[in-house]
Formats: sequence, structure tokens, C-alpha cells
Amino acid sequence: MEWNLDRKSKKPIYRQIAEIIENGIADGTFPPDKPLPSERYLAKELNVNRSTIVSAYDELESNGLIQRNRGSGTTVSKDIWGITKKRIPSWNRYIEAGSFLPNLPVTQRLRKEMEEQKLINLASGELSEDLFPMMSLREITSTRSFIGRLGYDHPQGNSILRKTITRHVENFRNIDTNPSSILITSGAQQALHLVVQCLLKPGDSVVIEDPSYHYNLPIFKSAGLKTYFLPVNQNGVDPNELLELHKKHRIRMIFLNPAFQNPTGTLLKESQLKTILEISSEHGIPVVEDDPYSLTSFKGEAIPTLKSLDVHGNVLYISSLSKVVASGLRIGWIIGPKSVIERLSDAKQQIDFGHASFTQWIANDFIESEFFNNHIKELVKELEKRRNQIVTSLKYFLNDQVEFAIPEGGIHIWCRIKRDVDEMKLLENSIKKGVIYVPGSTMGSRKSYVRFTFARENEETIHNGIKRFAEALNSTR
Ligand SMILES: Cc1ncc(COP(=O)(O)O)c(C=O)c1O
Repeated sequence: MEWNLDRKSKKPIYRQIAEIIENGIADGTFPPDKPLPSERYLAKELNVNRSTIVSAYDELESNGLIQRNRGSGTTVSKDIWGITKKRIPSWNRYIEAGSFLPNLPVTQRLRKEMEEQKLINLASGELSEDLFPMMSLREITSTRSFIGRLGYDHPQGNSILRKTITRHVENFRNIDTNPSSILITSGAQQALHLVVQCLLKPGDSVVIEDPSYHYNLPIFKSAGLKTYFLPVNQNGVDPNELLELHKKHRIRMIFLNPAFQNPTGTLLKESQLKTILEISSEHGIPVVEDDPYSLTSFKGEAIPTLKSLDVHGNVLYISSLSKVVASGLRIGWIIGPKSVIERLSDAKQQIDFGHASFTQWIANDFIESEFFNNHIKELVKELEKRRNQIVTSLKYFLNDQVEFAIPEGGIHIWCRIKRDVDEMKLLENSIKKGVIYVPGSTMGSRKSYVRFTFARENEETIHNGIKRFAEALNSTR
């Protein structure tokens, strides 16, 4: 039996062992009537820790391929093999072969830790439950008769909700549109995915910000796009650098998050937006404006959007209710030229036959209700308090060790650790101390950054979270 383990491979050793055994089961090397090697024997044979073999066997057992029997050791599962000796598919090979790429391992790890452990959560980019407008939503749902149309709704989204969003974006974002130029999506995320899938082709060059939320998304790579990075500094992006990138790479689309950017919190000035639009019109490059945060200005000022300044129709505008109402509603939207919206809507119909009606009704009634304005005001006040708390805690526990710009809206703060630090060790130590955040390398190319979200915890837990992070940092070289 050949055990060709590649100890330099990114694939963990236990996975490699599990795959070799899985293939052995499929080709008859490990028949159902003979026991598999014992954990102790195999560990010695392969010169690995016994826990590595335990993990390999755990994986095979959870896939139903082997069974562990007290007394008689580990055997190939009879259920799947049985008398017929049918070959079973090598699921791991399928899992790795798909063209839709998985999230980065560290992103998957963060999600798992958050599910499995009770940690102070400075990682999830969403509001805490107490910030959701529960009472108002309860009132809306208890008075509303839900016996309405329950067949497939319009593929672009419920027509009443689209009218409501037309008024909403006019009032809050100064955007002039109409219901046929809007597509309701499952959050901003689905809108981004549809744009990437339907309007671009493999080999196209696109610009995304560095750091950014988009930097962390494998959807660009899955679609075979070439991504070029526009640096974000304290003042946001420099439109001249955008021009340089276009000259070098013939950019087909630009993805920007101009208001309270995730993760840096930066807000582009109107002059920057205008220059970006000039470049866009002069060179005919569409801009995707991803705007989940512009309603959260702590100064209470109206934030200009690219779309509100877009007279030629160069901007596809994406937003959602996730960061201002509730992420679980999964209500987002994209606004653009009718022909583009129809194209995206046709794709959405192929994917899910249009958005679920219930959450569209709830979203519609809430945005239309007397509660909405008040909710946003209260939310912004609370977010500002939490922003103040995280700034105070960072200064208190880590004054000389980190630097950051203070965001005037949004839900994230982007911190630079002033010394070199092993990012993964710091994350491990922080998890041990009971706090989680997003390591900077998942969101951008620069070293020694972390992103804290201050919307998910209250002031007290933010303070404790930063205290624990400071302890973890002090114990990490
Ligand atoms: C800039 C940005 N765009 C899009 C999303 C996706 O949000 P959702 O799909 O919940 O609307 C996020 C979430 O963090 C974000 O920060």
C-alpha cells in the first residue's frame, strides 16, 4: 500500500490519509470483510501523531464510509459496500473540483468558532439582536394579513416593495429611479454575485479596493476575473490611481464601497465621487456602488452617493437592510439601467424563482411605517455609543500598540498593530481568551491589521473584548 503523503501540501495530512483510504475502499484495496489498520499502527507506519489518524477516521466515519466497532476495530461500512461491491463516489474529489471556490480557510474557521463557542464577537459584520426593531416588526406582523399572493412573485421582486424602495432611495439617498429599474435580491451579497456572473466573463479585469469586503470574496476568482487593487488610505481611494490601473489593465468594472467602507470606515468626499464618475464616463467603465452603510452617519448628515450624482447611468447601485434593520431578512436591492436589471432578474429567476414573498412584505411594511425613521435615529445613536466605547477601550488597553482612524459611521474599525505579529498565533491566543475578530490579511494585502465590528456587542462586552484582545496581543510575539 503506497501512502504518498505530501507534508508540504496545504491540504492537512489527516485529509490526505482519509482520501487515500477512501480511494482504497473504492478500488477494493480495503474490502469490507477485513479490518482497517489500527490507529496506533497507522500512526507509527506513517510517522504521524495518533490524533491525525483519529481525525482521518473521524472524517471517514462521518461520511459513512467506515464504522468503529468496540472490540473488533475499524471496518469498512457494510451499508454502503455490502454484497454488491458498488463503487462509491470520491466526494472529496468532487468537493475540490467545483468551479465555485470555497471561502478562505481562515474565514471558514472564524465561522466555525463563532458557531461552536461562546466568544465575544467582534468579527461578525452585523447588528446585535437588541438593535433589530423587534417590537415594530412584531406589531407589523401581528396586524398584517399574510393571506396574500403566495405563488411565485415577480422575478424582479414584489412590485409594491419596489415602489417603496423607489421612494426610500429618493428620500434617503437622493436617488431618482423607478420600480422597473430595481431588482430585489437576497442581500447585497446576491446582487454582487449576479453582477459578477452575468455582466463579466473570465479574463476580464476588475478593480476592487484594498482592503475591502470584496477582497475577502472568492466570487471574483470563481468567475475567472483578474482583480486589481485600489489602495484605501485614511482619505479613502485616490481616483488618479484608478486611472493608472485602467491605463495598465483596461478595466471592465470598478467595485467601490464609498460610504463608511468595510473595513476602514472611510467616507469618500463629494469631490472624489465626482472625479470617479468623470473617469467612469470618459472611459465607459461601469461602477458598482456597494452601499450598505450610508444611513449610519453619526453626524446625522445626508451622505452623497455616486448614484445620486450619476447623470449618464454608469453606476449600478447596491444596498440592503442588513446593516440597518436585520441581516436575517435577506433583503437587498440593485438599481441600474432597465436592460441590466432584466438580465440580472432573468438569472435570479433561474437560480431561485425570485425572492421569498414573506420577507418582502415585512420589509415593505417596515420601510413604509411610522417606525422606520425613528428606528434609524435610535440605531445610529446606539452605534455611535458603541463606536465611542471601542475607541475608549482601544486607547485604554492598547494605547501605544495600535493606531486607527475613528469612523464617523458604519460598524467597523480598522486597526494597525504597530509591530510585526504572527497573525494566526494572535488569532489562536484571542480565541483562547474568548474574543474573536477578523484578521486583516483576509480583507487586504497589508500586514498587521485587524478589523473589529462594534455593532454586534454592547458597550460592556466591547470593553471586555478589547481587554481580552490586549491580553492575547501581549502574549503573542
Ligand atoms: C460592503 C458590503 N457589501 C455587501 C455585504 C453583504 O451584506 P448583505 O448581503 O447582508 O446585504 C456586506 C456585509 O458585510 C458588506 O460589508
